[in-house]
Amino acid sequence: MRVLGIESSCDECSAAVVEDGRRILSNVVLSQVDFHKPFYGVVPEIASRKHVEWIAPVVQDALSAAGVAVGDIDAVAVTYRPGLIGSLLVGLSFAKGLAWALGKPFVGVDHILAHLYAPHLERDISYPYLGLLVSGGHTIIARVDRHDRMQVLGTTIDDACGEAFDKVARLLGLPYPGGPSIQKAAEQGNPGAFKFPRAWLEGTRNFSFSGLKTAVLKEVNKFNGGPLPVADLAASFQTAVVEVLFQKTMQAAREYGVNNIIVGGGVSANKPLRDAFLAQTEFPVKIPPLSLCTDNAAMIAAAGYYRYVLGHLDGLDIDILPTWPLS
Ligand code: KG4
Ligand code: ZN
Repeated sequence: MRVLGIESSCDECSAAVVEDGRRILSNVVLSQVDFHKPFYGVVPEIASRKHVEWIAPVVQDALSAAGVAVGDIDAVAVTYRPGLIGSLLVGLSFAKGLAWALGKPFVGVDHILAHLYAPHLERDISYPYLGLLVSGGHTIIARVDRHDRMQVLGTTIDDACGEAFDKVARLLGLPYPGGPSIQKAAEQGNPGAFKFPRAWLEGTRNFSFSGLKTAVLKEVNKFNGGPLPVADLAASFQTAVVEVLFQKTMQAAREYGVNNIIVGGGVSANKPLRDAFLAQTEFPVKIPPLSLCTDNAAMIAAAGYYRYVLGHLDGLDIDILPTWPLS
């Protein structure tokens, strides 16, 4: 079964064709990052306008790269939540039009859950698993019992993890997106140079990153506009984030007795975070390849396939949902 996936929730315009939820026939991802870079973040108006321009050619490219005609598609899956309102609307409207014109089944996909499907594209996943989802907009720790049952155990009480990377990068004068910039700068730095706080939020599975961001700002201010020890600041910040994400996830995995751990979302591209999980031997860990960590339509098609198989089809009346319901 071939599912056409469409993703336009933020600043990546993407379409993919995936067979049986596993085999990627194509995955075209067009990033808008150069248009948002001057603003150190995604500008919603620019994002939706670019999606309008790009969505049709991106879908066409995905079909051509997969070597299939549009009529060979068995279902259309699209991100409908969460994300930027205008951006989501472009993908959802396009997908609805296509599904209606082709008379094919239509599936709305939750972008957060889809990030946890990226590793499904490579191998079998054993349930229950502990999912850590770290992206630009969300930081979620969840127990996933089966395809359609996910229990959120904790989330951020302020900034999302990727958002903290992006904001701290800006403080350090590093380019957007902040995650890769901080990782690169940190390679030359001493992770113990600055003793930044770790928000453990004992007794909860929640996260907090705003105190850490403020601690970085305080150190930056001490230099009164003079040259900053960027590498040391970046390395110390990154170490504080990775330590909390890793320890809290391991703690939850032990407590909930899961079979394995899955890490997904843009921040799962972070090398020290990947290394921390891959170095431990208590739980099998699945982290997507770098190409599938950040937003892409292959994970949407994979998540859509499983929803379809479980009979969760949607009508053309579903609407976008900018925020993510925690229940
Ligand atoms: O999942 P994603 O592509 O988009 C959302 O759904 O938000 O995640 C984007 C986020 C950005 O905040 C970016 O800075 C972060 O992922 N990111 C990283 C790395 N690569 C991307 N953070 C840390 N280290 C990286 N290597
Ligand atoms: Zn994402």
